[in-house]
Amino acid sequence: MIGDEKILFSGMQATGNLTLGNYLGALKNWVSLADEYTTFYCVVDEHSITVRQDPAELRKRARNLLMLYIAAGIDPEKNCIYYQSHVSGHAELAWILNCFTYMGELQRMTQFKDKSAKHADNINAGLFTYPVLMAADILLYQADVVPVGKDQQQHLEITRDIAQRFNSIYGDVFTIPEGYYGKAGARIMSLQDPDKKMSKSDENTNGSIYLMDDPDTIMRKFKRAVTDSVGSIAYNEEQAGIRNLIDIYCACTDKTPEEVVREFDGKGYGEFKPAVGEAVVSRLKPLQDEFHRLEKEKGYIDSIIKNNAEKASYYSNKTLRKVQKKIGFPERIR
Ligand code: TYM
Repeated sequence: MIGDEKILFSGMQATGNLTLGNYLGALKNWVSLADEYTTFYCVVDEHSITVRQDPAELRKRARNLLMLYIAAGIDPEKNCIYYQSHVSGHAELAWILNCFTYMGELQRMTQFKDKSAKHADNINAGLFTYPVLMAADILLYQADVVPVGKDQQQHLEITRDIAQRFNSIYGDVFTIPEGYYGKAGARIMSLQDPDKKMSKSDENTNGSIYLMDDPDTIMRKFKRAVTDSVGSIAYNEEQAGIRNLIDIYCACTDKTPEEVVREFDGKGYGEFKPAVGEAVVSRLKPLQDEFHRLEKEKGYIDSIIKNNAEKASYYSNKTLRKVQKKIGFPERIR
């Protein structure tokens, strides 16, 4: 709690171009929850270097990501939008939590298994302890709620396990966070392979809608989306492609799957696919316009970056000092 408000923390990696999955699974919910909580929305640039990055490109992507948070509708004066690398407490707490996390737990993480298969030439220790840094992000702010997509659920569970383990030794130090998963959009799949999640790093760019894709590109990708030969619009496991399109349509229009199935009853995929495309285009348009406007506001964005880094450091230091004291690090002499 800060004052009488509960605390929300979430973050995104500054790698690749954000996809519709990132938006519908996370960012959209960040916006809708912002007023109810004291919020920390982090650009997790430290997580990004678990795979090799071009320095200039990383810097640019991190700034674009921060602007996208704002463009999506998060007011940076009321919500703490900041870079992870500007707040040293993340790395410091991560080190401490590393000493309370077991190798076996980390070995079970599916993201680690996937990423080490994909980057077999660079299975570094950072990739392995990635979830510990994520736990540090969340626990540092005593977050009550963490809005994420379903693919992050396992990381949230290990965060809770680490926090509980620490608390059982040292008393009530950390708040145990809860995940928040939206009703629609918590798991958006690739348009080209509906069994695979839509991902920034997918080599087949037709499978992903990027937030900055222009309307023609979005419409073309939806028209090419892989479906099935059943031919009717129904929400079930067997029609994974159509089910994904229904999820996307629901998340963009705030309708339920039942309403969508009724709306398109008797209609074919040729009509449904462009309708989904149009819903996405109109959902993304205000965000894209605002992003282009913010690109010109250099001084304003710089002041947000500076002020919010200070705010995040202030709150995170409170937890960090408490943890350091509990585990027996010598007190600072003032
Ligand atoms: P990242 O950067 O991969 O994704 C950012 C957010 O987008 C969600 N997401 C999706 N949701 C639905 N469908 C999809 N296809 C899809 N793809 C991505 C993710 O679930 C996530 O919410 N480890 C995190 C970043 C992180 C973090 C944190 C998150 C670091 N520290 C602390 C929360 C709290 C990650 O790699 O997300």
